[in-house]
Amino acid sequence: MQTASRGLRGNFRRASSIHARLNHTQPPPPGSNASTTHFGFRTVPEESKESLVRGVFDSVASSYDVMNDAMSLGVHRLWKDNFISLLRPGSKGPVRCIDLAGGTGDIALRILDWAREKYADRETTVDVVDINGEMLKEGYKRFKKTMYHNTPQIAFHEANAQALPEDVFPSNSYDLYTIAFGIRNVTSIPDALKEAHRVLKPGGTFACLEFNKVTNPILAQVYDQYSFSVIPLLGTILAGDRDSYQYLVESIRKFPSQQDFARMISDAGFATGGNFEGDGGAWRDLWGGVACIHTGVKV
Ligand SMILES: C[S@@+](CC[C@H](N)C(=O)[O-])C[C@H]1O[C@@H](n2cnc3c(N)ncnc32)[C@H](O)[C@@H]1O
Repeated sequence: MQTASRGLRGNFRRASSIHARLNHTQPPPPGSNASTTHFGFRTVPEESKESLVRGVFDSVASSYDVMNDAMSLGVHRLWKDNFISLLRPGSKGPVRCIDLAGGTGDIALRILDWAREKYADRETTVDVVDINGEMLKEGYKRFKKTMYHNTPQIAFHEANAQALPEDVFPSNSYDLYTIAFGIRNVTSIPDALKEAHRVLKPGGTFACLEFNKVTNPILAQVYDQYSFSVIPLLGTILAGDRDSYQYLVESIRKFPSQQDFARMISDAGFATGGNFEGDGGAWRDLWGGVACIHTGVKV
């Protein structure tokens, strides 16, 4: 994969093109039969969402890692560490992993480091898959600086989580499927879960880290204030792109509740190991539900 270099000016150009697209995509007229979905708080034709999401991540790719640290004050690193320490990749021997919506490779790097540092495992592999070539280029550049570059341990693929090509991602072939802060961006969550189920081996683990619903009303209010005023402002200042960061915040609010998402995972054929009421063990809230880990085992 070729690496890309892009200056600040490029960012601004991309930001204005996403702005144009965001504002010009209209919902279908009332009474039309076209299926719709949400793109942040807006209703858009289903077939538009993929390109709108692609536009967002084209726009944020080069500033994504810096913005992630700035927006979460570095907390996303703790959540990701928590996610990996729960999964313990390599603890039962080398594993074949697929990291969907893998973007700049944060999860892949943690999986490989965990397996190597804890179990001296240099055979665990990760296929990083993302719909967005720009995000993957950032990940590829980053891995070039690591010991995993040019080894069979890491590979990057551009593909849609909802329709993974079967010749590249055969059925029953992975031990671990991870998706971090990615599933809320797909057009059809059930289709992405179906694909996760297909590619995992029987007994393989599905694991999702995603922003979720904050249950404490006071924390929810503070979090809302922060998300809707600070994050778009940071997007403007640090990346010259308010609209993409506004979308990221809105998309979090549109994501199903912990309970509803756990049901979707179960409906896709996974054992979730807990009930769906309250915090019944089918998921783990982090920071009161600001983020959440859902797991399931393919049965
Ligand atoms: C917020 S980023 C998360 C990146 C990385 N997993 C992390 O935790 O830092 C979301 C990623 O989802 C990707 N994405 C969105 N829709 C997708 C789809 N349908 N299939 C695969 N990737 C998708 C975007 O391109 C983007 O890289």
